This record gives sequence, structure tokens and C-alpha cells, in this order.
Amino acid sequence: MTARRIFAGPKLVLATHNKGKVREVADLLAPWGFEVVSAGALGLPEPDETEDSFLGNARIKALAASRASGLPALADDSGFSVAALDGAPGVRTADWAETPTGRDYAMAMGKVEKLARHAPDRRAWFSCALVLAWPDGHTEGFLGEAHGRWVWPPRGTNGFGYDPMFVPDGHDQTFGEMAPAAKHAISHRAAAFAKLRTSLPPR
Ligand code: IMP
Repeated sequence: MTARRIFAGPKLVLATHNKGKVREVADLLAPWGFEVVSAGALGLPEPDETEDSFLGNARIKALAASRASGLPALADDSGFSVAALDGAPGVRTADWAETPTGRDYAMAMGKVEKLARHAPDRRAWFSCALVLAWPDGHTEGFLGEAHGRWVWPPRGTNGFGYDPMFVPDGHDQTFGEMAPAAKHAISHRAAAFAKLRTSLPPR
């Protein structure tokens, strides 16, 4: 087994064009004092996400950004999975919300309910993959999951995406009802980031 490669800085590309995500990841990385620049700010192209796993798609994005910039890059991919739907929408989570006029998550949640309503198995989970890539093609991947069940009707106006229909294990509120800090403490992103820390210098 090869040793885990540590990212020691100083400069890191965040392989996302979404300003909200750049801010969120930059905040998480703040204690390390890295110089963080987004793929969007560098004008890097967005590759097609052609893999059938979160880690696979995050790897495509991280490698593309790293090769194009000549710098180490960090990419993420995330989504919502329903046990009774064999893990769908999964890597297609954002696509299920797509409409000609933008993303509609009330509609996307309705699709999940319509397809899964007769199945007794209500388990569901969020996944977040983070992949660090270096210009020589080396990658390190980290997968975080938050397990729970889906509920209907959706509840709560906090959060985003599929949050209002997901109740994490050990809780009664949906991610959409929980205070943001409470969600962030147990989320799939927090779990993935905790693993990513093993490839960063101690802090
Ligand atoms: P991407 O990672 O930007 O490709 O998008 C992932 C999809 O999963 C989007 O449709 C998000 O709304 C959804 N998603 C990812 N994380 C969360 C979450 O924490 N809560 C609700 N929806 C999420």
C-alpha cells in the first residue's frame, strides 16, 4: 500500500464554479492558511461528470482542474440516495431537479416520493466525495455519508436541495428544520472533511 500523500500548501485550486461552495470549503480550510483559488476564477473548463460514483466524478473534476492549472486541486461531488430506489437519484441528484427554467427541488423531492411511496424501506442517505489531485495525476479520495430516512411531506425552510425530506438517524427534525450548525455537525460534508484532514498537516 502506498502512503497517503499530504497536501502541505501553499496554493490550492477549488474545482468548482459555484461561489457558495467555494466559500464553504475556503472557510473549512481557513485554519491552514492555504492560498485558495477557484476553477471559475481561473477560467478553467468544467469537465463532464461521466462516472457512476461520487468519488469517480469528484476525481474527474479534481484531475481536470489540477492538470489545467498545474496546481493541486480539491473537488467535491454530492447527492441524495434512496434505498428503495437502489441508490437513486445518487449521482443524478442535481439532474432530477433540472427544468427548462432552472432547478426545482420541490419537484425533485416529489419525484422521489412518487417512485418510493409504496416501498416500506424508508432509508436514505446523503453522500459527499472530496478528492485531492496533484498535477502528476496522484489522487486521494474521501467519502462522507449521513444516514437516515426520507419523510413526506417535506418539512423546514433551512438548508437547500433535498434537506426538507431527510431526517438523519437519531433525530426527529429534517435537515431543513435543524439549525444550520446542527446540520453541519453531522452532515455528509462534515464526515468527508473529517477524512480529508488526514491528508492535511495537523492543526
Ligand atoms: P453537486 O454536488 O453540486 O453535483 O450537487 C449535488 C446535488 O445534491 C444537488 O442537487 C444538491 O441539492 C444535492 N445535495 C448535496 N448536498 C446536499 C445537502 O446537504 N442537502 C440537500 N441537498 C444536497
